[in-house]
This record gives sequence, structure tokens and C-alpha cells, in this order.
Amino acid sequence: MSQQAATRVALVTGGSRGIGRGIATALGAAGWAVGVNYHSRADAAEEVAAAIRAAGGQAVCLQGDIGDLDCHAALLAGVQEAFGPLDLLVNNAGIGTQVRGDLLEATPESFDVVLATNLRGPYFLTQRVARAMVERTAADPAARPKIVTVSSMSAYTASTSRGDYCLSKAALAMLTALFADRLAPHGINVYEIRPGIIATDMTGPVREKYDALIADGLTPIRRWGQPDDIARAVLAIASEMLPFSTGQVIDVDGGFHLRRL
Ligand SMILES: NC(=O)c1ccc[n+]([C@@H]2O[C@H](COP(=O)([O-])OP(=O)(O)OC[C@H]3O[C@@H](n4cnc5c(N)ncnc54)[C@H](OP(=O)(O)O)[C@@H]3O)[C@@H](O)[C@H]2O)c1
Repeated sequence: MSQQAATRVALVTGGSRGIGRGIATALGAAGWAVGVNYHSRADAAEEVAAAIRAAGGQAVCLQGDIGDLDCHAALLAGVQEAFGPLDLLVNNAGIGTQVRGDLLEATPESFDVVLATNLRGPYFLTQRVARAMVERTAADPAARPKIVTVSSMSAYTASTSRGDYCLSKAALAMLTALFADRLAPHGINVYEIRPGIIATDMTGPVREKYDALIADGLTPIRRWGQPDDIARAVLAIASEMLPFSTGQVIDVDGGFHLRRL
């Protein structure tokens, strides 16, 4: 007699647009039940949820500013009440620097909002989710929940016009290392995905600049990355293709990270 497989449950922060939308949609198509977190664009989140449901999957939209720690409990409860315990957290939500400009003129206002959204929020959301995952694996050692954080090639590439963004992404690399080490004894693997230049709203304002740089060979693979490129890496992790890797950085950047001569 065939037993129905348990629903696998994911929470994708910033799942309404861009890379997060690609990840949420791909997980939904692969049979996952998805919590689609968004900040301000309820319409965009509803589109993602509708696409997942149209493909036969399950989704719930969850409003919440990741930088506001007070919303984290409701986010986690929202997805767990809808679908059950979380198998996958994808820390994807992020914002760019508030005003691009000379590092010597960078403001504490931009620093505070970028670091709150891109680092402080994910750090404490990961902590909250990790506690729940630890409890779960203690009760059910067969469960293999995972955490994926979307950082950036800005984790190691200096862009002096957006120092706060680079700092936030560099710190996410350590977030991954810390939680990977802490959670490994509990059977919880933690990964960092480092996107390169991906076609989304975030890169819309610099599209022409990057068109020219890519055409000039900035990346060995001479094309823009797409949200689906990142989604495929998340799917590989989510579907247990990397069971003996944790704290692993996965560059999804057309080879940008290579040192070349
Ligand atoms: N695009 C790239 O080239 C690139 C490269 C490297 C890394 N990344 C990283 O990839 C992630 C996604 O970037 P993207 O290009 O897809 O950006 P995007 O097109 O601007 O989309 C951002 C997403 O994050 C959500 N969001 C923003 N602030 C939030 C907050 N405070 N709380 C909850 N959700 C929030 C947005 O929700 P609403 O729809 O409600 O606004 C939206 O769904 C970011 O962490 C970014 O740093 C992007």
C-alpha cells in the first residue's frame, strides 16, 4: 500500500518578486507548500501564490518586514499553522543601498535600514527557526530541515558606491558558517547561495551598465542570471542533493568569482 508522502514546507522571505518569486514558484512546482513572505507588494505575493495553486501546489501569503523582529513569530506560526513544521527556510529578502554614492559620503540612515533588513532580520529569524528545527529533529530524527541564505557576490566584491550593502552580504557569509556549525549535530544543514548579476527589479536601474559589462566579458558565461538559476540551486539543496555539505557557499554567478588572467 502506498503511503502519502508528508507535505514539505518552505518559508521564502521576499517571495513576492525577483529571485524570491523564482524560488517560491519552483518549490511550489516541485510539490512544496510555500509560505510567500512579502513586505509591501501584497498583489505580487498573491500572483505567486496563485501561480503555485494553479500548478497544483499550496501557498500562503505572509506579510512582514523581515527587519522588524516583532513579526517573526507570526511569520513562522503563519506557515506552520497552514502546512505543518518547516522543512526549509530561505532567507532571500533584501534591499539595496538607499542612496548609491561615494563611500566618503555614506550615511548612517542607509546603513541602519540596510543592515536591519539584510542582516539583523535574517540573523534573528534564522535563530527563531533554528530553535523550532532543533526541537523537531529531537522528536523526529528522520526530519532533515534546512536553511538557505541568499547573499551576493557583494559578500566579497567591493563596490564603493554601496558599502552598507556589501557589509550586510559579507556578514551573511558568517551567518551561514555560524548556524552551519551550531546546527550540524542536529541534522540541520545550512547553505549560502551567492547570486551574481540577476535580472530583477533590484538591478533594473543599472541594466544598461551591466548589459555593457556582460557583453565585455565581466562574467565567463556571458548572460544575465535569471531568478530560475537561483531557484535551481535551492531545489538541489531542498531535494537532498547535498547531504554531506553544510556551511557551503554556492556561487550562481556565471563564473564571476573566478580569478582570471
Ligand atoms: N538581483 C541581483 O542581481 C542580486 C544579486 C545578488 C544578490 N541578490 C539578493 O537577492 C535577494 C533578492 O533580490 P532581488 O533582486 O530579487 O530583489 P527585488 O527584485 O528588489 O525583490 C525583493 C524582494 O524582497 C522583498 N523585501 C524587500 N524588503 C523586505 C523586507 N523588509 N521584508 C520582507 N520582504 C522584503 C520584496 O517584497 P515586496 O514585493 O513586498 O516589496 C521582494 O519580494 C536580495 O537579498 C538581494 O540582495 C540580488
